[in-house]
Amino acid sequence: MSPPTTVDAYVEAAERSGYVMGDDDVPVSLHPVSIDRDQGDVLRRTVLTEGAERTLETGMANGISTLYLCDGLQRNGLTGPRHVVLDPQQADQYHCAGLRAVRTLGLAGLVDFRPRDSSLELPRLVDEGRSIDLAFVDGDHRFQGVFADLHYLDRLVRLGGLVLVDDYDLPAVRDAIAYFTANLDWILEEVVHRIAVLRRPHRTCTPPWDAYVPFQAVTAAPSAAG
Ligand SMILES: C[S@@+](CC[C@H](N)C(=O)[O-])C[C@H]1O[C@@H](n2cnc3c(N)ncnc32)[C@H](O)[C@@H]1O
Repeated sequence: MSPPTTVDAYVEAAERSGYVMGDDDVPVSLHPVSIDRDQGDVLRRTVLTEGAERTLETGMANGISTLYLCDGLQRNGLTGPRHVVLDPQQADQYHCAGLRAVRTLGLAGLVDFRPRDSSLELPRLVDEGRSIDLAFVDGDHRFQGVFADLHYLDRLVRLGGLVLVDDYDLPAVRDAIAYFTANLDWILEEVVHRIAVLRRPHRTCTPPWDAYVPFQAVTAAPSAAG
């Protein structure tokens, strides 16, 4: 059988077998790390509907989310390394399966991969003056990891841009998000297939130095589909 040439065919085959290939043909399990096809569709569709041109994700693992995000960019007619991907474990834990997947599907030219911890690399990108239209957060799922990602994305993602966060069912993820909606005017637009879709405000939000709105105890997802 010939190898899959589209993202949909690649992910369908991977889900059927339960694994993808890393370097040196090491099989790497999809579970429990990779997003599924429904979630991938959410990422791709959002890149398309937003007309996103510059994107970023934390947490590559097997690269399933990377494939869908890059597919969206390609369908938007874009080329060049405009999708920043951060993951310090790509080689050690995933045998470079994510990087292999983007090469296999001819999407490597869109990817600016950095094998770095997001809490160290995101501030560097801020310092470089980067601007991102849409980011996907799926790296360190501990509260402080998600919070750090969102903190730097508040400076990296353009005003009115989108931040999608996986695993909204996890209390640590929900609580981290709640700080930004309660204090920095981020809008939780919807939760689809456990992905929270957040929009940065269209105008700069700079609270007074002593402002603080308690943000804990978000218990239910609005319009939780999937
Ligand atoms: C749930 S998996 C990501 C799955 C991937 N988005 C997909 O759909 O296939 C989480 C990934 O985050 C990475 N990770 C953990 N801490 C990180 C951090 N501080 N910065 C960037 N990536 C991190 C792990 O190495 C792992 O690959």
